[in-house]
Amino acid sequence: MGNPLFATKSMTTLMKEAGETGEHSLKRALGPVNLVTLGIGAIIGAGIFVMTGSAASLYAGPSIMLSYVLAGIGCVFAGLCYAEFASMIPIAGSAYTYGYATLGEIVAWIIGWDLILEYAFGAATVASGWSSTLVAFLQDYGISLPPQICDVPGAKWVLYQGHWTPLNTLTMSMEQASGLPMVTAKFNLIAFLAMLAVTVLLIIGIKESANFNTGVVFVKLVAVFVFIAVAGAFVLKNPGIAHANWKVFIPPNAGYFGAFGWSGILRGAGVVFFAYIGFDAVSTAAQEAKNPQRDMPIGILGSLIVCTILYLLVSGLLTATVHYSRLNVGAPVSLAMRETGVRWGSYVVNAGALAGLSTVMLVMMLGQSRVFYSMANDGLLWKWAGDIHPRFRTPWKSTAIVGLCVAFVGALVPIGDLGQLVSIGTLLAFVIVCAGVWILRVKRPELVRPFKTPLVPLVPILGMVVSLGLMAGLKAVTWIRLVVWLVIGLVIYSTYSVKHSKVRNSAQ
Ligand code: ALA
Repeated sequence: MGNPLFATKSMTTLMKEAGETGEHSLKRALGPVNLVTLGIGAIIGAGIFVMTGSAASLYAGPSIMLSYVLAGIGCVFAGLCYAEFASMIPIAGSAYTYGYATLGEIVAWIIGWDLILEYAFGAATVASGWSSTLVAFLQDYGISLPPQICDVPGAKWVLYQGHWTPLNTLTMSMEQASGLPMVTAKFNLIAFLAMLAVTVLLIIGIKESANFNTGVVFVKLVAVFVFIAVAGAFVLKNPGIAHANWKVFIPPNAGYFGAFGWSGILRGAGVVFFAYIGFDAVSTAAQEAKNPQRDMPIGILGSLIVCTILYLLVSGLLTATVHYSRLNVGAPVSLAMRETGVRWGSYVVNAGALAGLSTVMLVMMLGQSRVFYSMANDGLLWKWAGDIHPRFRTPWKSTAIVGLCVAFVGALVPIGDLGQLVSIGTLLAFVIVCAGVWILRVKRPELVRPFKTPLVPLVPILGMVVSLGLMAGLKAVTWIRLVVWLVIGLVIYSTYSVKHSKVRNSAQ
């Protein structure tokens, strides 16, 4: 027997698990339309509606479009690799399961633990974006929420032009702001409650969650299309404004890495990469798909292509309508909408963003609980994490506990820190998945692959290179946090998982 750290789960076992039915298994309820909407549900969210503004304003200017192209290319390569795996191993654990089948237990553990960064922390990030969008939405109706419950502890808000606004989104010095009424936030109760609501929905059932998602994705897409139509018409009518805003397409570098210039495009890509996260969440629902072999690639690649096109249009129009230096705000898309003078458009965009962000939280948490479920079934996590509710048929204990933890993280940690951590965690998973596709082609060429990644090994290699490049663009502190997180995971692995791993025990 080889080194048990690198024990792999056999394809026969995986296929057997994929075929299991009954009250202790997940329910196969999702068709191709559900899967594409699940993907769009997870993808379009805080990245485009919230983070694009600050990324353009701080890192890339109008060339944020190039950041989107770069991040999108990396995602298409990774998406092609995910599609091969998801059609071949259609069970719930996504990248974690693929790692177990190809690279061995320790690598699978690392991915599973790393995916918590993507899904759980991703949901927390979006919960935070949801609260800033709610504030903008209510302000359109003249309602101000108490800032103390709308941001992380310690964040300063000032009363500016009749609205409570986070100080860090205003372009003014501390001295200028000191004349304004100021309060310090205590706890982001809005993000906390939003997360709890999503958790309850997920416990009630996959079909209910998917139906809610399908309905809301429609609202979210309407908001995006309305923005494209209104801002597009504005730009055509006012070419002078668009020309002035776009005159310097790649602002010159400000003297250090990541502040505009080409390095700014790279850092911008690392940040807006967040906007693409989620297409891989489709693969976590493989065990709930009716015909995963055919529909997984459709769900993953279909949702990715639709979103890439929309992002290029939205980011281009955003920076053409409003000068990038003014975009570092909580709801940049609705700011651009107001700039066009179409007031109702701002209501629609904020309402769509609110709805849209809810579905992102939903699908991220769905992915998280399904990864825990798979890890618990394999004996790498505590057994309770895999318990399925007999009536709802969902992994309710892990959903409830993770949901509560995520609600606290979203209420306490700033969105910028969370977002970068999520991006680095996801990129690491992409690197491993791309490597896995290549390795399995060499080790097990005979396996049936309903969908084949084209041009192997070129596509997996390019997927790895672009992902590593995007990781390189992120801040050093994000790297340190990633390493600390992985070390914590390895401690749990060596103290709990090695003793309970089913694959190891059966091998012995
Ligand atoms: N792609 C998702 C978002 O932008 C995570 O919110």
